[in-house]
Amino acid sequence: MNINNKHYTTIWLNENDEVQIIDQTTLPFSFNILTLSHLTDVCHAISSMQVRGAGLIGVTAGYGVYIAAKDFSKQNKLSWLDFMEKACTKIYQTRPTAKNLSYALERQSKIWKKYSFEEALPLLREQALQIAQEDIDFCKKIGEHGKELIANIAKKKNGQPVNILTHCNAGWLAFTDYGSALSPVYAAFDENIPVHVFVDETRPRNQGASLTAFELGEHNVPHTLIADNVGGHLMQHNMIDLVIVGADRVTRNGDVANKIGTYLKALAAYDNNIPFYVAFPSSTFDFSISDGVKEIVIEERSGNETENITGYFYNKNGQKQIQEIRICPEKTKAINFAFDVTPQKYITGLITERGICNATEKAILALFPEANQ
Ligand code: MRU
Repeated sequence: MNINNKHYTTIWLNENDEVQIIDQTTLPFSFNILTLSHLTDVCHAISSMQVRGAGLIGVTAGYGVYIAAKDFSKQNKLSWLDFMEKACTKIYQTRPTAKNLSYALERQSKIWKKYSFEEALPLLREQALQIAQEDIDFCKKIGEHGKELIANIAKKKNGQPVNILTHCNAGWLAFTDYGSALSPVYAAFDENIPVHVFVDETRPRNQGASLTAFELGEHNVPHTLIADNVGGHLMQHNMIDLVIVGADRVTRNGDVANKIGTYLKALAAYDNNIPFYVAFPSSTFDFSISDGVKEIVIEERSGNETENITGYFYNKNGQKQIQEIRICPEKTKAINFAFDVTPQKYITGLITERGICNATEKAILALFPEANQ
């Protein structure tokens, strides 16, 4: 991904072996890089959404285990195993819905449970880098597979842009690079296939307005911001050819947890015969569950996020200033579920690094047979 024509990933290790991230809480108003040096920094970055998006949460957790392990020698209260158990529990408790977080913790735990501190440290570092690289590689492949869907629609439209609706942010900011739902869009755009993206603003935190619009703009992809309730109307008037969204957790039979509001978009797409695809890397699968509505834990965040809205204005000195303002009466309290579940019957297909499949257990297991082992 490029920001101001400079290449970035969303997370990296610097020359001092510290984790650096792009602070997503200040985008698109200002671009800031933060350093995560200790476990507390990592947990705060995930829970306050300085890093966010399923893939990036997982990669941050992978690095977080390494960062936590480095501090082991500075304390003498706990054994290595107890120290790491405590650190990983803290990371695990930051956000519950994205499967990628526990995926990364489980991978790292195979190392710290087996090796001593001295042996484990370089291995934890290596595996954190590997989890990040896999995230990049898988997202790139998702782009290649998903691009074919867009190319097929483009052929039928004789050079007219393919109109794609997306919800929330499942672009490079939600991963280490490329993204999931937006990766096919970038791949198509880079091959001169005409595309245009309708971006749901995605209340309450506005990841669509602030992050998806920002990254599409940086890549020069034509896009239009819409309020969350507009999509159904556009679908009824043939203004959407394809919906692609990301995922935070996908069950073995293809139910999908994604940002709140995704379910309503899927219902509208189903009613209007518009293909509805979900793009995600395999680290988002939770093969241990089948009924998404009953079994996926949905994160509930502070009502403040709904009662208030954040934006910027130009102050007297002509400088951009970020401000949060309240949009409802003082006495009114909001409830804020961050995700919802779209049952598999509303999903046309799943775009993964191994290819595209139906949202059914049979099709998923044909692509990922190891889920049965
Ligand atoms: O709460 P967030 O911003 O971490 O939400 C995650 C998301 O960005 C979306 O649900 C996304 O579509 C899936 S994550 C790639």
